[in-house]
Amino acid sequence: MTGVDRDRPPGFSTRAVHAGQRGGPVHQTPSSVPIYQTSTWRFASGEEFADVLAGTVPGYAYGRGYGNPTVDAFEAVVASLEGTEAAYAFSSGMSAVHGVSVLLAAAGDRVVASRELYGGTYSLFRSVLPRYGISVEEVDPHDFDAVRKALPGAAFFYAETIANPLCTVADLRRLADACQEAGVPSVVDNTFASPYLCNPARDGIDFVLHSVTKMIAGHSDVVAGVVCCSEERRAALRALTLDTGGAMPPFDAWLCLRGVETLELRMERMCENAGRLAAMLEARPEVSAVHYPGRPSHPQHELAASLLRTGRFGSMLSFEVRDGAEAAARWCEALELAWIGASLGGTHTLVCHPASTTHRQVPPEVRRASGLSDGLVRVSAGIENAEDLLEDFAAAFSG
Ligand SMILES: Cc1ncc(COP(=O)(O)O)c(C=O)c1O
Repeated sequence: MTGVDRDRPPGFSTRAVHAGQRGGPVHQTPSSVPIYQTSTWRFASGEEFADVLAGTVPGYAYGRGYGNPTVDAFEAVVASLEGTEAAYAFSSGMSAVHGVSVLLAAAGDRVVASRELYGGTYSLFRSVLPRYGISVEEVDPHDFDAVRKALPGAAFFYAETIANPLCTVADLRRLADACQEAGVPSVVDNTFASPYLCNPARDGIDFVLHSVTKMIAGHSDVVAGVVCCSEERRAALRALTLDTGGAMPPFDAWLCLRGVETLELRMERMCENAGRLAAMLEARPEVSAVHYPGRPSHPQHELAASLLRTGRFGSMLSFEVRDGAEAAARWCEALELAWIGASLGGTHTLVCHPASTTHRQVPPEVRRASGLSDGLVRVSAGIENAEDLLEDFAAAFSG
């Protein structure tokens, strides 16, 4: 990373800033990794071209996921932040979820998935994988007996560290142990936690994926995904993606590199804001429940305190408006500073009504069974000043 020789490993932000930098003559090293905006590369001979394609000689060949220096730099940073050997970058979080799913499962296979998932992932598992002949069995990720019973023979297990939108926290160590005992690869979507709060691979998870669109890129200006894993698994994902498409383009990689440098700073502020908003909402008579891992009332508060290593509990929270869906919609519309909008993890505070938006693909009875009520509002805390957000949220209750 740098020429500095230290006994202790570099800190999180040091890696975020430096892990993507290549060595080279000092006066020729740009501080911003250049955007290699090219789809093809020149070779000295047909033989060299063939060797690069075969991977026997290092080099770049073509834009569709074969490798690109800007994308390589981003992958190096995220692998460093997640503590994995390697990472492979995708053009969206969903292409990352799809890539891992198709790598691990084939026609006739069964997948075991948490029932607490982002709506797009739920839809992929329910509507798309069955078209490939892959079935998906849903389990309660907090019921370890049920998970252990379902695992034998499964192609992979899938869960979210902090689930969208109820912010339940999965016990990744126990889940990883159960998967290892059953010989089943484990996949975790670590988007809500971000690598700053949690590194699932350190708990024994095999594939850690992110919608980079969210906390990692952090500025709501790019859609991207990444899978962090071993070198060997990365090679298999890359080989698959050469055929399916969906790899990250170079300009997007540059935006992601630029965003990730400040991940720690942004997460610190966003988590602080989320904690203060959660405390304020819990005290409001109009609110019947707040879902935030940092509140002692949260069912996995103790687990979150040990799993989320930085002493922070995330920048996402959700809460239930006592008077139901219409009152929740009125509250969202009365906000002046926070915006109603898709996505999360950016610098602006965003709110949404999951039942009609992010989780619209999940049938109402399934939504309600997993605790997602019609009056639920999801909040992605941004980096604004807490006092302004607290005032905005309080004022919205008086319409
Ligand atoms: C937890 C989670 N995983 C995956 C995705 C999909 O990511 P993308 O929108 O980058 O495809 C999302 C999107 O909201 C998400 O919230």
